[in-house]
Amino acid sequence: MKLLLAAAVLALPLAGGAVSVVGDGIPAALEGKTGDAARGRAIAASRSQGLCLLCHSGPVPEERFQGNLAPDLAGAGARWSAAQLRLRLVNPQHVNPDSLMPPYYRTDGLVRVGNNWQGRPLLDAQQIEDVIAWLLTLKQ
Ligand code: HEC
Repeated sequence: MKLLLAAAVLALPLAGGAVSVVGDGIPAALEGKTGDAARGRAIAASRSQGLCLLCHSGPVPEERFQGNLAPDLAGAGARWSAAQLRLRLVNPQHVNPDSLMPPYYRTDGLVRVGNNWQGRPLLDAQQIEDVIAWLLTLKQ
């Protein structure tokens, strides 16, 4: 069992340095940041930052136009742990190589990156932790 677990620990070269993937999650908060759910909700709903509602629908009633390309975010905090959500935001392709979801905290191995975004993640460590804090409040 110990061996199996050790084999599952991988280091992803990411924006703020290496991040350890354990199983199907990233247990440690990015750069040790503490997330704020209210800020996370605003980031997720924003058309210039998170853009989550381009693909997802979610419990954000004031946003009229929501996506139907991806699972509803309602209940995400009941389906996933913080570690699992972190990996799915940092690098969805780690879980599903064919995922359409953008990797929000990865800068390597990307194609067609706009000039302004070269070497920069879509969200920084604090913003990722904020979004996770919000998702964890979505228990149903
Ligand atoms: C370009 C479309 C797209 C965008 C933008 C996007 N996602 Fe996703 N997301 C997906 C798809 C498609 C899936 C389904 C699993 C897969 O294919 O990876 C998914 C899966 C997920 C899941 C797991 C699904 C579940 O069962 O709950 C979560 C949580 C999630 N996304 C959160 C977010 C958040 C938060 C944002 C914004 C910061 C975001 N996504 C932006 C397409 C997107």
